[in-house]
Amino acid sequence: MKKYIILMSFLLTGGLGLQAQNSEIPSSVKNVETKVDSILFMMTLEEKVGQLVQYNGSWDLTGPASEMGNKEKEERLKKGLVGSMLNVLSVEATREAQKLVMENSRIKIPLMFGYDVIHGYKTIFPVPLGETASWDLEAMEKSARIAAIESVADGVNWTFSPMIDVSRDARWGRIMEGSGEDPYLTSLVGVAKIKGYQGDDLSDSTTIAATAKHFAGYGFAEAGRDYNTANVGEYELHNFILPPFKAAADAGVATFMNSFNTIDGTPATGSKMLQRDILKRDWNWNGFVVSDWGSITEMIYHGFSKDKKHAAEIAFKAGSDMDMEGGAYEAGLLELVEEGEIDESLIDDAVERILRVKFKMGLFEDPYRYSNPELAEQISYEEHREVARDIARKSVVLLKNEDDILPIKSEVQKMAIIGPLAADKDTPIGNWRAQGEANSAVSVLEGIKAAAGDNVEITYAEGAPLGIGERSFLMPLEINETDKSGFADAISKAENADLVIMVLGEDAFQTGEGRSQAKIGLAGVQQELLEEIYKVNQNIALVLINGRPLEITWAAENIPAIVEAWQLGSESGHAIADVLFGKYNPSGKLPVSFPKAVGQEPLYYNQQNTGRPYSEEHVTFSSYTDVDKEPLYPFGFGLSYTDFEYGEIQLSAEEMNANGEIMVSVPVTNTGDVAGKEVVQLYLRDLVASKARPIKELKGFEMIELNPGETKTVEFIIDEEMLRFYSANKKWESEAGDFEVFVGTNSRDLKKAEFTLNK
Ligand code: NOJ
Repeated sequence: MKKYIILMSFLLTGGLGLQAQNSEIPSSVKNVETKVDSILFMMTLEEKVGQLVQYNGSWDLTGPASEMGNKEKEERLKKGLVGSMLNVLSVEATREAQKLVMENSRIKIPLMFGYDVIHGYKTIFPVPLGETASWDLEAMEKSARIAAIESVADGVNWTFSPMIDVSRDARWGRIMEGSGEDPYLTSLVGVAKIKGYQGDDLSDSTTIAATAKHFAGYGFAEAGRDYNTANVGEYELHNFILPPFKAAADAGVATFMNSFNTIDGTPATGSKMLQRDILKRDWNWNGFVVSDWGSITEMIYHGFSKDKKHAAEIAFKAGSDMDMEGGAYEAGLLELVEEGEIDESLIDDAVERILRVKFKMGLFEDPYRYSNPELAEQISYEEHREVARDIARKSVVLLKNEDDILPIKSEVQKMAIIGPLAADKDTPIGNWRAQGEANSAVSVLEGIKAAAGDNVEITYAEGAPLGIGERSFLMPLEINETDKSGFADAISKAENADLVIMVLGEDAFQTGEGRSQAKIGLAGVQQELLEEIYKVNQNIALVLINGRPLEITWAAENIPAIVEAWQLGSESGHAIADVLFGKYNPSGKLPVSFPKAVGQEPLYYNQQNTGRPYSEEHVTFSSYTDVDKEPLYPFGFGLSYTDFEYGEIQLSAEEMNANGEIMVSVPVTNTGDVAGKEVVQLYLRDLVASKARPIKELKGFEMIELNPGETKTVEFIIDEEMLRFYSANKKWESEAGDFEVFVGTNSRDLKKAEFTLNK
C-alpha cells in the first residue's frame, strides 16, 4: 500500500516515465527514499536482480576472470541487468559503458564504476601502513581527497578503500594496505580517508564513494597466510576487529565490502551475523555491501555451499547486496525468488540500498557527471606531487640514530649509495598502485643527488638485484638468491666513502594481495650484502623500503642509523632526502610492532597479560627460550633529531563518576638543539574486568611541535565512554574499578598514574 501511494504521488507529479531521462525526476519528489521507492516499484524482478550484479571490465584483472565474454556483458548492460562495473578506466570507457545502459535499457539506472584506489590514483602516496605512520589525520584526508579528484577525472566514482582490517601479523601480505595493529588508530585513519574520498556531499562531482573493507576478520588470517581462516572469538571480534568498521558506518561510508575468509567457521560473505545483524540492524547503516571478488562463489570451495545457486542463497540471505564478478546472483537469485526460497522484499531492500547510494552520488541527475573530460584539464599534478612529498616525509620513521650520524653532516664529502632499491624508481610506487605509472617515483639516489649539492661526491652501486624477471599484480615474484656479482663494486665504493647510505627492503610486489611470506628478513642476498659492506665501512645509514614490518635484528644491533621509509610513493626519493639531510625532522611513529624474530608473530602491544607474565627465577612464564617476547621496535615508536623529555602525569582527580571526567596533563620539553614534532600518546588499562583486558590500549594522541628548550603541557580528557569495552555482558559498557593511565612517546616508554571509576 505504501509503495502504491508513493508511486501514485510520483506519477501525478510528473513521473519518471519509462523512456524518460532520469533527470526529469520532479523536484517535488525531494526525498531520496521516495525516489528510490518510486523507481523500485517500476522494476521487474529481473531488473532488480540485475542491480545486484557487478561486472569487471577487461582492463585490470585482480582475480580469476569470469567465463562471460565481453559481448554477453554488453548485451546485459543494454538490458539494464548490471548495477555496477569495476576496473573500467578512462572518461571514454566509462561513458561508453554508461551509454549502453542509458540509451538502451528500460529504466535507465546509471552504473557506478569502482576501482581499487588504495593510495592514490596517478599521484601515488605512501602505502597505507606507511602513511599511517605519519599519525597525521589531516594529511591522510588530503591524500584521499586528491586521489578522489584524480579518480573522477578518469571516470572512476567509487573506490574500494579504505582497508580497515586491523592486523597483527607481519607475514600477511596485505598488512601494507591497512593501518596496522591498533583499532583506535585504524578507526581514525579510516574516517579521515572516508571524509577525504566522500567529502561533505557525495553528489559533488569531485568526490567518490568509499568502501570499508574487508568485513570482517580478514586481517586475522591464521599464520598470516592470505585468504586463510580467521579464528576469532566474539570478544576479539567486537573489541579489536569491528571498531574501525563501526566508525566507518557512523561516518557514513557509502559501501562495505565483505571478505574472503571464514570467521568462526562461517565465510564472512555468508555471515548473517556480521552483515544483516551487526552492520544493518544494530548499526542501522543504510549503504550496500559488495562482495569481494568472487567471494560468493568461493563459498563452494569453503565447503559451505554446494553450487552457485546455493552460494547465492546463503550470501544474499546473509546480507551481501552485490556480487562482484562472481556470477552467483545472476545464476541463482531469480529462481530462488520464484521458488519462494527468497522473499522479494529482501531483494527490494538490497536494490533500495544500491539506488540510495546512486541517488546520493547524483547519478540520476547526470549519469555522466563523473566522466567529465574537463576535470582532467583542471588538475595540477605538480601540486599533487608537492602534497605527496610532504605526506611521504611525514611518514618516515627514524628507528635508530647512534652518535647522531643523521642528519648528514656537512663534513661528509663522499657518499656511497648502495643497494638494490637505491636507484629503483618503481618499488616506491608499491603494490595496489592504481594508475601510478611504473618507474615514475623519484629514487633515493635521485633524491640524494638533488639535495646534496655539488660539493659532495656521490657514488652508486646496486650490489645485487632484488627481484628478477617479470613483475606484475598477479604473477609470483622471483627473488635473486644467488647473483652476487655486483658485491665487489659495492664494497670498493663503500670503502672509499665517508658515509654509506644502504637502501634495502622489499620489492613492491612482496606485499599486497596473495603476497604473504613465512620469512620476513631482508630478502635474497641483501643481508649478506649489508654485512659485507659493514666489514669495510661501519658508517652506515640504512634506509628501508618495505610494506610490512621486517625482521632486522642484526641491523638494529650493528648499523648505527636506520630509517624506515616504507614505499612512499611518487615523491619517495625527495622525501627521504629531506629527512636524511635534516630539511625535515622525522616525526613518524610505527603503527605496527617490529619483531625480533618472525616466530613472535602475531605480535602486538595491546595483548593480554596472561597468567604468567614474568618470572626471574624459572622458565615457566609466557615468553620464548631463544628470543624474549618484546618487539624489536614497539608500536608507536619513532625517534627525532631532537629529544623530548616527559614530565610526570598530573590527574585532575583520582576518582570519577560515570558522567564525570578526569583531565590528564603531561609537560613535554624539547631538550635538543632543533625544533621537532612529537606524537604524544595516551594509553589506558582496565585492571580488573569481566573479561581479561589488554595491558594497555591507545585511547588518544596529540601531535605537538616544540622549539629547542620549549615546553608544552599536553592535556587529554578521560571520560566514561573511553573506558567502555565489549564486556562479558556482550555489550559495550564500562565497569567500575581501577584503571592505569599512561602517557609517553611510544607504547613501551610511558609515564604512569592511576584512577578509579565509580558507578
Ligand atoms: C580482491 C581484493 O580482496 C579486494 O580488496 C579488491 O577490492 C577486489 N579484489 C577488487 O579488485
